[in-house]
Amino acid sequence: MERFIIKGGHPLVGRVKVCGAKNAALKLMAASILSDDPVILKNVPKISDVLIMADVLRALGLEAGFLPSNDFMIKPTTSLCPEAPFELVNRMRASIIVLGPLLAKLGRAQVALPGGCNIGLRKIDYHLRALEELGAEINVEGGFIKAKADGLVGKEIDFEFPSVGATENILMAAVMAKGKTVIKNAAKEPEIVDLISFLNGLGAKIEGAGGSILTVEGVSGLGGNIEHRIIPDRIEAGTFMVAAAMTGGDVIMEDVPVQSMEIVIEKLKEAGASVEQVEGGLKIGQSHPPFRPLHISTLPYPGFPTDMQAQMMTLLTLAQGSSVITENVFEDRFILVPELVRMGADISIHGPHALIKGVPNLSGVPVRATDLRGGAALVLAALAANGTTEVMDISHIDRGYEEFEGKLKSLGAEITRSSERESITL
Ligand code: UD1
Repeated sequence: MERFIIKGGHPLVGRVKVCGAKNAALKLMAASILSDDPVILKNVPKISDVLIMADVLRALGLEAGFLPSNDFMIKPTTSLCPEAPFELVNRMRASIIVLGPLLAKLGRAQVALPGGCNIGLRKIDYHLRALEELGAEINVEGGFIKAKADGLVGKEIDFEFPSVGATENILMAAVMAKGKTVIKNAAKEPEIVDLISFLNGLGAKIEGAGGSILTVEGVSGLGGNIEHRIIPDRIEAGTFMVAAAMTGGDVIMEDVPVQSMEIVIEKLKEAGASVEQVEGGLKIGQSHPPFRPLHISTLPYPGFPTDMQAQMMTLLTLAQGSSVITENVFEDRFILVPELVRMGADISIHGPHALIKGVPNLSGVPVRATDLRGGAALVLAALAANGTTEVMDISHIDRGYEEFEGKLKSLGAEITRSSERESITL
């Protein structure tokens, strides 16, 4: 079990480049199942979730692997298998995303049922209902979702909530369905726009990217030896922005997807961080705690992203006054709160609201990463805390951050990865 040992108090200074978006890379890898020809994805982050998705693709019979640098190649084979096994789906919930493309390509799919996860129930009823509306017959038995379709048929699908995963699954099922599918109340996240641009590059006919109504005209097949560059990761970018601000640092970040981060940048500025566009990137500097308190509500895009909630909460622990965060997307996304409280934060939870009363400083103690973004948020707290913090269970963080400690170290952070069993004496 690996952990980070972090000595706080060093302002982060220097340059850092944002990597490719995890949530786009995973979906484009799954979408490659639909292609009759090899595809090359560029700017794919080397994170453990991507390695698991590569295992899923190989388990399905495709050839998949990194080329030098961050290019990732996926080659179809004649023996595509319809079953995504439990060992892999259990390691990464997002594997459920292969259901739509398998059904479209093979007319059948068998994907292990993903369990709940640390941040909430994460149901998949929208995915299954919408696939049924396209004509799939679905049975959930023996821990598997078994789906088959004798040709999917385009339909009007109206989601009751703009679910990211359900929108993507249905899009990938619909691209080869007979006739026209209209998806209403679709999710509008930039990663879905990237997926649509990739699918259209393979010959799909999807209109409305970035809006809440998507129209898909079914085609008979997809392919064409394409190369596609994954968009930069807005959540990694936001995490480093908070790190720079919390440590009173001065960081220039390259490849920041500024247009899709308006609300995050606006909230950081409102809290008192300095964020400005300079030559070669986005500069975060001259920001020092105490910050101004904020009110934040997480919402589907273009609202404040739930994936940035824990990091902002951590920054607000050092605000002068009280902040309120309302979590509207996942029911259990305050699980890092007890860990932050152990570091000296003053936070109480009232249903979907967290009340954060600012404190002058945080202190280093042993803490446990609870989930991907919560784990990253604890690292941010540690960077700004007095003394040394040990963050355990960092495999959660490795799921979504490429070279996290390497990048932080290059900016002057004192952080090491340790796999020794005994705890350090703090
Ligand atoms: C994706 C992202 C995740 C992000 C989230 C919201 C990936 C791999 N993960 O997750 O990082 O935090 O979007 O931006 O891209 N729901 C149902 N039934 C369903 C589907 C969803 O009730 O069939 C609920 C979920 O429990 C949750 C909410 O809808 O409360 C949003 O989930 P969704 O947008 O589907 O998130 P994911 O695709 O799982």
